[in-house]
Amino acid sequence: MQKTTKHLVNVRIAAILFTVIVSSGCATGQLGKHNSDEFKNGMVVSAHPEASEVGIEILKKGGNAVDAAVAVQFALAVVYPNAGNIGGGGFMVYRSAAGEVNALDFREKAAGSATRDMYLDTAGNPIVTKSLYGHLAAGVPGSVDGMVEAHKKYGKLSWAEVLQPAINLAQNGFKITQRQAGELNGLHRKLMEFNPNGTAFVNLESTWKADDLLIQKELANTLRLIKEKGRAGFYEGAVADSIVGEMKRGNGLITKEDLKNYHSAWRKPITGSYRGYKIITMPPTSSGGIALVQLLQSVEPFPLNKWGHNADSTVQVIVEAERRVYADRATHLGDPDFYPVPQTGLLDAAYNKNRMSTFDWNAATPSSKLLAGQIKGAEHEETTHFSIVDRQGNAVSITTTLNGSYGSLVAVKGAGFLLNNEMDDFSVKPGAPNMYGLVGGEANSISPNKRMLSSMTPTIVEKDGKLFMVVGTPGGSTIITSVFQTIVNVIDFNMSMQGAVAAKKFHHQWLPDEVAVEKDALDSTTVEKLRKKGYNIIQRGPIGRVDAILKTKWGYYQGGADPRGDDKAIGY
Ligand code: GLY
Repeated sequence: MQKTTKHLVNVRIAAILFTVIVSSGCATGQLGKHNSDEFKNGMVVSAHPEASEVGIEILKKGGNAVDAAVAVQFALAVVYPNAGNIGGGGFMVYRSAAGEVNALDFREKAAGSATRDMYLDTAGNPIVTKSLYGHLAAGVPGSVDGMVEAHKKYGKLSWAEVLQPAINLAQNGFKITQRQAGELNGLHRKLMEFNPNGTAFVNLESTWKADDLLIQKELANTLRLIKEKGRAGFYEGAVADSIVGEMKRGNGLITKEDLKNYHSAWRKPITGSYRGYKIITMPPTSSGGIALVQLLQSVEPFPLNKWGHNADSTVQVIVEAERRVYADRATHLGDPDFYPVPQTGLLDAAYNKNRMSTFDWNAATPSSKLLAGQIKGAEHEETTHFSIVDRQGNAVSITTTLNGSYGSLVAVKGAGFLLNNEMDDFSVKPGAPNMYGLVGGEANSISPNKRMLSSMTPTIVEKDGKLFMVVGTPGGSTIITSVFQTIVNVIDFNMSMQGAVAAKKFHHQWLPDEVAVEKDALDSTTVEKLRKKGYNIIQRGPIGRVDAILKTKWGYYQGGADPRGDDKAIGY
């Protein structure tokens, strides 16, 4: 055999061996490059296995990350009705393989006839249920317009192709999970109260069980109209008539004009840095991006890695940073189209470092003594997040929501989808807490056509100019601190993506002045030490449902699907 032929044979044998090793899914060790659950070509991580399947199929047939994201958003509206939606809104952060970044704000808006005091009684006190349940709680939905805009700008497959999987799921039904059966049974009475004629989510014959088929024919028709007519299929015509009909039935405010006038907004992402990594995240109308960068800047001077994950010093520094950042959030953040958010001042590293200088190692700073900084120049927590990367390396991070679980609980008759209760994210009265205990003031007061402040924090992280992580989560006010802890878990504590997502979390939001911790997040000695310093530590249920993707140094995608839910990472 000649030398070159011999060489070619050797190369072929090596290639065959490589293929066998990789496809048998046991490459770690032999090649030292990737685990069986790390993938080269693309990945989708979402709150429901059916939605993740839809996304990966779109990628496999040549769609890019935005095509997959649009398909997943519509699929979640079918298979994850507690937060997936066409009747709500959300945010997208995008990074192309070449490094171009963009952000899309498809957050709901207050109706044109909304008023500042619309949720107050005659004595000026908030009527809490009014902004939470029923027709008056709904903002003008933004999701459909958002998906149309995203697809128009970046999509590669046809609009019909990305809509079809959701239509199939609604028309033919899908098997609900054990968790979903429990949720739907728990909400039976309330869903009947707001939808006396029944909805697909109510089982009138028996109770829901795992693997029951949920068929949504009305929703399938609505999705077909959106497929055929784009935004006009939702904001005009039969669906708009149904929404306005619902408003008349339940004294809601949304009009045909409001629907027609709704438009999502492309915005410049917030960027910041943390220990050499670049953070690309959502600007206002979300508070999430600014708060995330503030938190990272606040803790960067401290040696978290030396102290250890959830060690008392680590927790103390993070809690004091959170307290200060959430105090700023309450005062300074709101819809930038209506209020001059002092973005530059809040994102100034020196400002955040200086805020931490008032913190005392020996005693908790009482929130009652801490106000927002002076800036120069001026339920259930149900939301859902998904992260997608395609073969080229384009990345999408979308967080989308109805606000509360199943939103306002109002399903639009004849159109088969739930309306949001996002109006509760406004500050209905200065200092009055919303459903997440968050307070606000003028910046986030209600005005016609204004967007309510959000905590959603879809984020992309770069390392050395290359994609590193795609991350986000639901969780109301805990969204920001969960995304923050997930990033820190990877960067400071060298956790895998799955480890960082699953790690137990804790949360402080200035008011109420308490550190909410998941079970087993902190050991008893740490709790004891912190309590002695005056930290009010309370145990609570799960925090966050982070769905994230990490790009390893070998160029493979590692998924992090939150075990707190039915979430699923699928790669190929
Ligand atoms: N509805 C929760 C949020 O937007 O923060």
